[in-house]
Amino acid sequence: MLAFAAISLCQLKFLSHYTYQYAPRVILPAIGFFLCLLLVIALLYHLQNSYRFLDDVLRGLNNTEESHNVQQWLHQQRSVINFEFAGPAATKQDHLFLRASANWRVREAFGIENSLTATLALDTHKSFLSIASQHVNKRTRDWTRLYQVAKTFIQAEIAAARLTSGRRSTTTPLAECVQCACLTVVLFDNFAVTDPRALPRQALVTIASEINKQWLKSKAKSEPDLPDTQVPTRSALLSETISSLNLMIPRADESYNAHDDAAGGEGLGLGLGLRPEEILGLIMPQYETLWRVVLLAFVTAYHRQPDPSLVKRVEKVPECLGNPAEEREGLKVAKESLRLYPSNKRIYRCAHAESLTSSSSSSSSSSSLSLSAADLELSHRHPSIWGPDDPLRFRPSRFDPSELTPLQRKLSYFPYSLRPHRCPAFSGFGDRMITALVVCLGRELGPSVGRVRFGGVQVGAGSLGNGSSELDLDESIPLPTGRDEVQGWVLELNEMVMI
Ligand code: HEM
Repeated sequence: MLAFAAISLCQLKFLSHYTYQYAPRVILPAIGFFLCLLLVIALLYHLQNSYRFLDDVLRGLNNTEESHNVQQWLHQQRSVINFEFAGPAATKQDHLFLRASANWRVREAFGIENSLTATLALDTHKSFLSIASQHVNKRTRDWTRLYQVAKTFIQAEIAAARLTSGRRSTTTPLAECVQCACLTVVLFDNFAVTDPRALPRQALVTIASEINKQWLKSKAKSEPDLPDTQVPTRSALLSETISSLNLMIPRADESYNAHDDAAGGEGLGLGLGLRPEEILGLIMPQYETLWRVVLLAFVTAYHRQPDPSLVKRVEKVPECLGNPAEEREGLKVAKESLRLYPSNKRIYRCAHAESLTSSSSSSSSSSSLSLSAADLELSHRHPSIWGPDDPLRFRPSRFDPSELTPLQRKLSYFPYSLRPHRCPAFSGFGDRMITALVVCLGRELGPSVGRVRFGGVQVGAGSLGNGSSELDLDESIPLPTGRDEVQGWVLELNEMVMI
């Protein structure tokens, strides 16, 4: 069309004489050349667009296929957790059997009978679930007081470390500090402990370390030499140390009445006494789900990936906790903590449906059953779900409702497991506890107080910490999450500046 217009223009009578004279020799070839150039450019532009279009179509197809595969994989993980894999005919009793059979080594190592370990006793499950639900939904819980309990413990730890070093820089074992702080808060929240400072520190350290040892013992895979049928032995030291605390259930809590053999005597508070195994049965689902996620999230959020917006986000903690309108921003810290570091990295079920309704609940028969595992950690970190750029970044804002994709919200995030056996702490208690503890650690042990060292800290002639020193040098390396991998971490306290 342009060519036609140009030629027509040339033919117009008002064109000057000169133009008319030179047109055939100069202007027309120039116009022709210009038009050809335009044509080539248009062609190239068109080709590029077609390529982009094709590229988009192919990528779309790939994305659809990738998204389909991811969704299928997620459904598989979920079907292990929610027992769909066992078939529609499986009863509640079957569910409990499949779960507890997968946990038989934990039951043996700790001697605990609760919803997660009792294979056949539906009543045990029901009564434990009822106690747990009442506990987590307790209306009178004072979150500011719980925060204060943690803060007092942490400040005492730092004061003790400073006392021995004077103004010089010194180190304090970080995992031990976090474990004992979590344990103190859990014991205070569950039992009639009137003064948590009266809990002997050495007893807390022993309980935390024995629980750790027993837990590792209960994992067959962490002991390759141990045949699967070998029953893990209990820890007498753990039982004795727990007994020495004389813990009591507060009398007001009439729901827990399974203690005819009450220990009696003087406790740290008044109430009903419990056997060590009963105490462990109560505190394990709480302490064990807390300390690792709290430690890892604190180190990530305050030391390795500090983000100035965090301080604002949590400014109302702990006073806001328990108030749904006020706590929303703060609780995103817990949600992101549990996304990156879910308390249960994997959820196991006994694999074979044919073992359902087996009348044998003995540990040795259970031990020969193979396991199915749902990978929570991968569901929470998968780049195709959480974005290819920063799935390992601690970013609470990803839980802003406008940012969460339907896939993230509906399918791929389940730190408290799924119905029909979802954890009762799902309804707020777990998130509040994690936020309170992570924020408390961040404020008391943040970068202005000290620096986290992961390995190779020299103390006199020896060295403290056995973690990888690569972590000290490269902040982009993801933190290891194994319970034995964090034990050597220390906080190197800054030298005190005298004003
Ligand atoms: C951050 C805190 C917590 C997290 C992340 C958490 C996580 C979980 C998970 C993943 C399960 C399912 C395990 C499985 O099916 O194999 C579970 C079950 C359970 N948890 Fe928690 N938990 C937390 C705190 C608590 C607390 C404080 C209690 C209270 C004592 C509790 C009591 C229970 C009970 C009773 C079950 C069994 C529920 C059922 O079978 O219906 N949890 N928890």
